[in-house]
Amino acid sequence: MEDLLTGFEMTQQQALDLIALGKDLKANPAKYAQALAGKSVVTLFEKQSLRTRVTFDIGVNKLGGHAVYLDQANGAMGSREDVKDFAANISRWADCIVARVYDHKTLVEMQQYSSVPVINSLCDLYHPCQGMADFLTISQNYDDLTKVKLAYVGDGNNVTHSLFIAGAILGATVTAVCPIGHSPDAQIIKQAQDIAEKTGATINVTNSIEDIKGYDVVYGDTWLSMGDDTPLEQIKAKFMPYQINQALLDSTGIKHILHCQPAHRGLDITSEVMDGPASLIFDQAENRMHIQNAIMLTLVN
Ligand code: CP
Ligand code: NVA
Repeated sequence: MEDLLTGFEMTQQQALDLIALGKDLKANPAKYAQALAGKSVVTLFEKQSLRTRVTFDIGVNKLGGHAVYLDQANGAMGSREDVKDFAANISRWADCIVARVYDHKTLVEMQQYSSVPVINSLCDLYHPCQGMADFLTISQNYDDLTKVKLAYVGDGNNVTHSLFIAGAILGATVTAVCPIGHSPDAQIIKQAQDIAEKTGATINVTNSIEDIKGYDVVYGDTWLSMGDDTPLEQIKAKFMPYQINQALLDSTGIKHILHCQPAHRGLDITSEVMDGPASLIFDQAENRMHIQNAIMLTLVN
């Protein structure tokens, strides 16, 4: 594995090794305090971020390395200069590029012209660091990932795709419950299902909350992803039945909640459950840093 653009790059063993390393980084930070000493990581952002920006910056620092944040105010990629020149220049100085972009094709081009590893920190189609942080979080609460049933509820998007990919590789059951017209990408579902056939995973899409009775974990995300300028009022009524709330926990028997955040309290999730005992949401946010450090150590060294 040289880059992490989609998640499909990972074998099952590599995904398990990343989770194990992420746990060790969390438990034994002192052991890794110089693990990226002398190394520099450029984090490029075309879109907004709280968790990703802060976890990569602080995460690199915790490994003894140096992070450089670049937003679009200092020259937008493809506008001030070409993506390929961004990649070729940065890879002469840095040891790794982390990029959050609108269009997945930008990452593919970046990887083509970069001589250092490229990590996708969210694009229109994938959010692999998120998906791996989520399975790290689940594995801290469930011993056997192949027995875990995870239900993603809401808009079929980049996060859904990354849960499907990580879940398929790790042998889990992942069902996305989406309103009609908001299903995940058919091609990515098919690719994840092909992997699932080999690992024993189950990857499904449905419109009905009824189908996730007896599941272990429910997962939410924003109804409108960055770059989607659909007015909230246009979709709110359609998405309200897919809100993560106490009634959903009661009707399904689900015990744990994840949400990648940013959360929209009162819309995609209620405060009652986000702040309640079922929530693993802030562990999950913390784990972004540990899994990303595991990914950087694996790719850079
Ligand atoms: N979950 C996540 O990626 O959060 P940010 O958009 O704040 O980075
Ligand atoms: N699906 C969301 C995830 C945010 C972390 C988005 O792309 O905006």
